Amino acid sequence: MCGIVGYVGDNKSLEVLLGGLKRLEYRGYDSAGVAVIGEDGTMDTRKRAGKLQVLLDDLETRPIANGATGIGHTRWATHGGPTDRNAHPHLGADGKLALIHNGIIENFSELKQELLDSGATFSSETDTEVAAILVGREYEQTHDLTESLRRVVARLEGAFTLLVMHADQPGIVVGARRNSPLVIGLGDGENFLGSDVAAFVEFTRRAVAIGQDQIVTIRPDSVVVTDFEGAPVETEEFEIAWDASASEKGGWSSFMAKEISEEPEAVANTILGRVHDGLVDLKELEPLGDLKDIDRIVIIACGTAAYAGMLGKYAIEQWSRIPVDVELSHEFRYRNPILTERTLVISISQSGETMDTLMAVKYAVDHKAKVLSVCNTQGATIPRESHAVVYTHAGPEVAVASTKAFLAQVTALYLIGLELGKLRGTLADDEIRENVRELQAVPEKIAEILSVSQAEIAQLAHWMTDTQSVLFLGRNVGYPVALEGALKLKELAYIHAEGFAAGELKHGPIALIEPGQVVFVVVPSPRDPNSLHPKVVSNIQEIRARGARVIAIAEKGDAAVLPFADEVIPIPLAGSLFEPFLAVVPLHIFGMELSSAKGLDVDQPRNLAKSVTVE
Ligand code: F6R
Repeated sequence: MCGIVGYVGDNKSLEVLLGGLKRLEYRGYDSAGVAVIGEDGTMDTRKRAGKLQVLLDDLETRPIANGATGIGHTRWATHGGPTDRNAHPHLGADGKLALIHNGIIENFSELKQELLDSGATFSSETDTEVAAILVGREYEQTHDLTESLRRVVARLEGAFTLLVMHADQPGIVVGARRNSPLVIGLGDGENFLGSDVAAFVEFTRRAVAIGQDQIVTIRPDSVVVTDFEGAPVETEEFEIAWDASASEKGGWSSFMAKEISEEPEAVANTILGRVHDGLVDLKELEPLGDLKDIDRIVIIACGTAAYAGMLGKYAIEQWSRIPVDVELSHEFRYRNPILTERTLVISISQSGETMDTLMAVKYAVDHKAKVLSVCNTQGATIPRESHAVVYTHAGPEVAVASTKAFLAQVTALYLIGLELGKLRGTLADDEIRENVRELQAVPEKIAEILSVSQAEIAQLAHWMTDTQSVLFLGRNVGYPVALEGALKLKELAYIHAEGFAAGELKHGPIALIEPGQVVFVVVPSPRDPNSLHPKVVSNIQEIRARGARVIAIAEKGDAAVLPFADEVIPIPLAGSLFEPFLAVVPLHIFGMELSSAKGLDVDQPRNLAKSVTVE
């Protein structure tokens, strides 16, 4: 959701702001705008509903001054529709102060009424303009931008990142954050602010994350961070691991095509450096203290990350024998869950900013649980609020729907499961080594699927552009894969899609089967003596008998499914717990291919945002 970028330095703010907004596009937005203080000390703003290109075209026909100070914003509408007027920046009453905002100001109606009563006028329906007018009024008193923002944030409730600048104060941008992301980029004679490091990675790899309830003032040669009371705050610099090219398309037709092609690396890089002598060595768990006494694990996440969590449950329970519950963060947070010092909460988030998960993490910390986050984004809020973090090394994920990050999340959870098995003595070293070998073999097997099956899956998708509904079935670890396949199809191809546990079919969903209904079935390997293979093959027969068109994702050489499936997508052989890494790949490809066959925007599906920073 909303992307934010701020800059002070040379006379190139427009270039920095527009480049930053381009890189933040992936977060999801419906309008964009910039404000720049020109060399003559006047402030120019331009904002347009629609894609960034609309703003760029407008700036080309009606240029604004470039300058050394600027702020830029992509808006994802919450209060007020996606119109030019509601786009950010918003201005103070005298038009000299510009402000941008990410988040929701929950008490904006009371504040707006107070301002209306005192004669203020508004030109938008946003909660943001209330903050702009309030900061503008404070500035008239104080002539100090930092102090003005500090006074206003003390009155705001909700979640916000705010950036402000004033035409009378060129060379200064001030930011404040509560529950919404903001990161500083450190340059040479220039400094940056961004919702995430993608905003400025083209210009600097040095960054500092800003903590909760903190204010930052950047000038070309200084960065000062204080808390909301004005007390100085110690900050820690980190180096951005991604380079700028990692978040570019690099010749691929879409970011998603590129990201699916990076699925092998996402798994391999997440394992890298975490295995020694064939055993998992997760030093990142050390801040959690002794984990021998943990009596329960609760995994919290949303969407695709929650499906990764469901897979984590199978592996962690199997290897550590600790009971694991998986809950959607927004459900967990509001039902008075039972947590103790012996509960380990594992949050999973690609962005590290998902508000529902962030709130659940804070709740868990407040209620004395040990909190570990699995996250893909350095400097993000969720890892900062947790006791420990295991980073997934999937690299930047730009397409709104998650693909490679899902595989990296499952990898991290499996490593955590193996580490817990080691710590608690529930796994012998040779068992750990065998599972580590299986995990290390995954990237090559994914690469094989990508090279062998991609064209065939694309063909399948092209035949199915008129399909109205698709069902997905799986059992055991195949069930979260079915859910993930269905979610990808909903969000990418706008098709009704449902994932079911295959055993549940006879309890209701089989009524949906009619002639021609397409059903993807994730088939477990027949090689495992405890395999549910025969049961899943029976399920296939049941739906086939009722006219379903079956597309089976099955192990290479599985002859038992051939007579009953209309299509078989083969996957390489793997141990049962490792099959999901492979079975999910054709489903990612299928969702992407069907979306592009239908002429849809694969990278930015309608109504969705990459970073869901509101509850
Ligand atoms: C689906 C998808 C979403 C995210 C969910 C959580 O393709 O991308 O369901 O998985 O919004 O996002 P993060 O992982 O950033 O917390």
